[in-house]
Amino acid sequence: MFERIVIENVRNLVEVSVSPAAGANYLFGANGSGKTSVLESLYLLGYGRSFRGGPVDSIIRRGERFCRVVADLATPRGSSRVGLERSDKLWRARFDGDDVAQLSSLFIRVPVLGFEPTSAEALLFDADVRRRFVDWGVFHVEPGLLPVWRNYVRALRQRNASLRGGDHITADAWVAVLAEYGERIHSARLVYFEALKSYLATTIENISPTLDVVDIALRSGWAEGVDLYSAIQSSLERDITTGFTHCGPHRGDLRIGWHGRSFRDVGSRGQAKALALCLVLAQAKFYRDRTGRWPILLFDDPGSELDAGHQSRLADWIDREPVQVWLSGVEATLSLLPRDVAKFHVEQGKVTRLV
Ligand SMILES: Nc1ncnc2c1ncn2[C@@H]1O[C@H](COP(=O)(O)OP(=O)(O)O)[C@@H](O)[C@H]1O
Ligand SMILES: [Mg+2]
Repeated sequence: MFERIVIENVRNLVEVSVSPAAGANYLFGANGSGKTSVLESLYLLGYGRSFRGGPVDSIIRRGERFCRVVADLATPRGSSRVGLERSDKLWRARFDGDDVAQLSSLFIRVPVLGFEPTSAEALLFDADVRRRFVDWGVFHVEPGLLPVWRNYVRALRQRNASLRGGDHITADAWVAVLAEYGERIHSARLVYFEALKSYLATTIENISPTLDVVDIALRSGWAEGVDLYSAIQSSLERDITTGFTHCGPHRGDLRIGWHGRSFRDVGSRGQAKALALCLVLAQAKFYRDRTGRWPILLFDDPGSELDAGHQSRLADWIDREPVQVWLSGVEATLSLLPRDVAKFHVEQGKVTRLV
């Protein structure tokens, strides 16, 4: 959990210091006061990007040259200080006073999961979001795989550059490497995905029972029943024409089905939000069971995102699990708040804890 956070120059937050409770934390305030920006700052520490999308540097407060978030993070092995700064178009990360060379090794240590107004659309319409969701689980449970992913991405870039440069011999030389790393990534996703499916089923039963017909499937990113090496070889002509590698885990996806059709086409917006919520809670619990610690959960404006039934079942969930959650809303209270909650008033970029 986060113990103390200092945020500088993120959107309208000049310098904000928050000392949250171990359990539920509720930020409330008028539209535009800075609630989402606080959650966004916490999210940054776990991802190095905003959950709002848009250009990274738009998070930096107008007229400033940098933004920075520093937090004390309590873990079973003691407290650590994590920091992330953005300036001159670069991220700089610190962990316990040392510079961190690979940002991903910082993000792995800051397990944050978010549910916010754009989660549902993103989940339905953006394959990158679905893939990142799966990979969050894969890499947080098995950080040892990160180098495999980095090597894969490097090989992919090299091959694509060679394809575009018309250097087919070099492009060809990368195929074996891509196939080896790519297969490993897909196998890890598959193991994770099989486990996640049962967590999702349980979560849906508890939180959103009418979604029980949702059917999710993991797609590798290349033709079924073919090994990746052969798949890349057989798409060579297409790859040459477009200058892009079409087969591989970078094209993997999570297919979401509903009564034999795509959920996107037949699920309602509200059902999509409920599903996004269930996926987050399922992944949180999975992470807890595998690592012995809970991720930190961010719920931006759940009062306007979820109907009364989902709110009350989410409230029960939060009450039951010893997890640090951050919620936001415009009203001074929210029906889904657990009994024991720390409240913060956000007003024009200032955050004050109520006593
Ligand atoms: N880069 C920026 N610099 C300064 N202010 C910004 C920047 N980006 C957004 N804002 C402003 O920050 C304020 C807080 O936004 P937000 O956190 O979304 O508010 P809330 O979630 O409380 O409605 C808004 O008034 C928004 O216009
Ligand atoms: Mg907001």
